Amino acid sequence: MSRELNFVGISGSLRKGSLNTMLLNAAAKLLPEGVHMTLVSIKDIPLYNGDLDLPETTERPEEVEIFRKALAKADALVLVSPEYNYSIPGVLKNAIDWASRGDDSPLLNKAVALMGATPGMWGTVRMQTAFHPVFQFLNMTPVQKPEVLLAKANTKFAEDGKLLDEFAAELIRKKLLALKDLCIKLQ
Ligand SMILES: Cc1cc2nc3c(=O)[nH]c(=O)nc-3n(C[C@H](O)[C@H](O)[C@H](O)COP(=O)(O)O)c2cc1C
Repeated sequence: MSRELNFVGISGSLRKGSLNTMLLNAAAKLLPEGVHMTLVSIKDIPLYNGDLDLPETTERPEEVEIFRKALAKADALVLVSPEYNYSIPGVLKNAIDWASRGDDSPLLNKAVALMGATPGMWGTVRMQTAFHPVFQFLNMTPVQKPEVLLAKANTKFAEDGKLLDEFAAELIRKKLLALKDLCIKLQ
């Protein structure tokens, strides 16, 4: 394939000093050749409300339409998220719920790479496991290996946001390359 692939990268944390946003930014610097990443924020997406989810009249809230259009342009998604209470943070799940509706859902059949960072010891493994049924329902194809579970992430970035853990950087490189290969296979 000669066309450059577009990965859309989303952080599941809204806070300024987010470890997960730092991990996403680090991933954006570790992309394979022939791939670029568009970073998309979910901070302005309203809470899901079925009364406002009116695809037939294209009257979903403007921020939701912008989000869905950005996802529609993605060859694959890169989700980088914290774990909240052993699960998916509400803000990210909410954005996914908005994007998941309708036969024209931009999530359907999409390739996805999921990663996470936490100051804790378990590297967001429970959040990543909580995503399995979501991917299944949307017929998405996750890159399973390698897993990127950045534990003790508060010790792994320099002040300027550089990822200091070379082992983790190599796993991210491999994961993004696997996502590219998967994209090409699925097309
Ligand atoms: C509501 C809430 C629940 C949390 N639950 C977990 C958890 O289940 N597992 C975990 O490893 N860390 C948990 N944490 C700690 C987060 O990993 C930590 O705040 C992390 O820095 C959040 O990601 P961010 O830096 O990208 O914002 C929780 C934090 C919050 C605010």
